[in-house]
Amino acid sequence: MFTELRDGLAGHAEALAEAAGALADLDVLAALAEIAVECGWVRPRTSGGAARLSQARHPVVERATGGRFVPNDADLGPSRHTLLLTGPNMAGKSTYLRTVALCALLHQVGSFVPADHAELPVYDAIHTRIGASDDLAGGRSTFMVEMSELATILHGATHRSLVILDEVGRGTSTLDGLAIAQAALEHLHATGAHTLFATHYFELTRLEADLPGLVNLHVAAEEDEASGLTFYHQVIPGAARQSYGVEVARLAGLPAPVTSRAARLLTALNSGGDDRKLTRELAALDLGRLTPMAALELLHRWQGELRGGAEE
Ligand SMILES: Nc1ncnc2c1ncn2[C@@H]1O[C@H](COP(=O)(O)OP(=O)(O)O)[C@@H](O)[C@H]1O
Ligand SMILES: [Mg+2]
Repeated sequence: MFTELRDGLAGHAEALAEAAGALADLDVLAALAEIAVECGWVRPRTSGGAARLSQARHPVVERATGGRFVPNDADLGPSRHTLLLTGPNMAGKSTYLRTVALCALLHQVGSFVPADHAELPVYDAIHTRIGASDDLAGGRSTFMVEMSELATILHGATHRSLVILDEVGRGTSTLDGLAIAQAALEHLHATGAHTLFATHYFELTRLEADLPGLVNLHVAAEEDEASGLTFYHQVIPGAARQSYGVEVARLAGLPAPVTSRAARLLTALNSGGDDRKLTRELAALDLGRLTPMAALELLHRWQGELRGGAEE
């Protein structure tokens, strides 16, 4: 009986596969339509180039945060095609990047999008580099994985692409990472791709002065003595002023002696100008005229300054 059934069906294999494919499409579209009604999504307009979203939401984070999700706007066009997003950890940078990318993807698959109003172009690709992942078995370190993903993006992005880069350059030393992040950002800026670049390197925010079309945004947060750090999850114009890393570490429950030691070290590092002052003084010394006693006195003073700076 089985063989008979199988042979009977085999004659209609093509029609059956086609019907199954059509039903699968219908299933996806019906699910998207249902969620659009249920969650108040809008029909996006296809634009010739600009991307404008008002009150956009990340559908998954929105559901997870109950009624407390803070929607945000996005505005990308020729005069602002590179958005540089700063703000403390946990502020909502990654969520914002993914929100924009998800809206673009949903628009392009023919769905409504989670926003109050949406106008989006048809991108030739959506390139993303988000989060760290290891490929240790494959013999590639976290940083190697990050760099090869970045390489693919930098080679592939065009002026019609959407590029989402989250904390690029994190996997190496600070100066290395900063240098790579800035060079990658400059390269992408030159392609004209719509780029959203979230970074903890505040040094990059000064690029706004040199690169037309690069705009600083940050996620609002506020610190006060009594309640610590408050996150508003709201994306607003301008660069963030500081990273609040130590504050976030405190919220996460690091032992108090560790966070207060970190705060002192940070103050010392931030006044790192001392080192440069010492280097300049040293370079300017006329050793031929220096007596051994004067040299010793200088050494004594410099050591005092360095130790004082590190322990303040
Ligand atoms: N717009 C938002 N509204 C409400 N909560 C948010 C919003 N964005 C982020 N969050 C919450 O903050 C957490 C951290 O967000 P994330 O995007 O990972 O921050 P960042 O990348 O700045 O460190 C999320 O897991 C979510 O719970
Ligand atoms: Mg993040």
